Amino acid sequence: MNTEQGILEERAYFLSVINTFKSYRDLSYKRVQHKEKCMGSLPSHHKKWLVKYNEDLQKLKEGIDKNAEFIPLVLKHAYTMFDNVYSNMDISQMEQEVRTLVDGLDKVQSVFKQLMRDWSSLGAAERNQCYQPIIEEILRIFPEQTYDRENIKVLVPGAGLGRLAFEIASRGFKCQGNEFNLFMLIVSFYVLNLCQNEDEFLIYPWIHQYCNNHCVNDQLTTARFPDVKPMPSVEGNFSMTAGDFLEVYTTKDEWDCVATCFFIDCAPNVVQFIETIYDILKPGGIWINLGPLLYHYSDARNEKSIEPSFKVICEVIRKVGFQINKCETGVKTKYCQNPNSMLQYEYDSVFFICKKKDNLEENGDV
Ligand SMILES: C[S@@+](CC[C@H](N)C(=O)[O-])C[C@H]1O[C@@H](n2cnc3c(N)ncnc32)[C@H](O)[C@@H]1O
Repeated sequence: MNTEQGILEERAYFLSVINTFKSYRDLSYKRVQHKEKCMGSLPSHHKKWLVKYNEDLQKLKEGIDKNAEFIPLVLKHAYTMFDNVYSNMDISQMEQEVRTLVDGLDKVQSVFKQLMRDWSSLGAAERNQCYQPIIEEILRIFPEQTYDRENIKVLVPGAGLGRLAFEIASRGFKCQGNEFNLFMLIVSFYVLNLCQNEDEFLIYPWIHQYCNNHCVNDQLTTARFPDVKPMPSVEGNFSMTAGDFLEVYTTKDEWDCVATCFFIDCAPNVVQFIETIYDILKPGGIWINLGPLLYHYSDARNEKSIEPSFKVICEVIRKVGFQINKCETGVKTKYCQNPNSMLQYEYDSVFFICKKKDNLEENGDV
């Protein structure tokens, strides 16, 4: 969006994200205070029996404070991260005019959970399930003996906080992550460029998970990050882009490999994602995908969402022009899961590898 109106809208949105980050502590406290209020309205003998619960609520505030400590550090650099586009606006005036976002607390909290998944030792089990199979296939398909990996271009759309893309770049590939969520982008910029030491920060990823706790310590489960120092080991090989995958990637035949993890179900129309992945791959290029089909727009009103089954998706993949070389179902995977919670979500994900047929290859199925 390059019109003046568009630029103003983008800035206003950027500032509302900043304001939402800033309001994290207040919004989080409000939830706890609401529970205190509920307690206050209970009969006095219930209050007496719930003394421990009241103490637990106080402990949650400490966790919230700890999470909130990280936010100003991140925001300090947010204004300069997009080539200084936002650095010289009249921020103070605009910030006052702009509100926080609806569901803002959930948006900030999901970044804390993603920090656990992508950049903590606690998230290693999830990364082994979700990222490792993709990485192993990339290494197998592009062996060092045959390929100059520096010239193999891998794209990771829906990169979250960038760990998968970072891991691929660490193995010598030229890798780019793409992400459109500003909350993720602002935090990943900090982690990838400015974190100084391993396990520098402590967070409470599930401080807002009020249900299914055996004891308050489940809610107070902590994670340290980053488990590795991200930079400067892969500088040059690694980059992140901001924006909608469908809008940013329009150049045909550019990428050797596209790796998607827990991503394709983020589209209202998954076919558009598949078609774009096909278009941007070089002939002979590879698409590796792992994840479920938890169609994110399925219940969203005012969205034209379609939710084809995996069987239908496979048909589409072939019709678009891919050859499916590997296809597994039932791959056990978790997503930002609190290991201590009574509720454990586990996906039987699909894992497949497709090849964009070379111009010379016939356009039939494998
Ligand atoms: C479910 S998360 C998965 C993140 C990461 N790949 C992982 O496995 O942990 C999906 C990510 O894709 C991003 N995303 C969704 N639609 C996108 C789009 N059209 N363009 C770029 N990013 C998108 C979301 O903001 C979110 O960070």
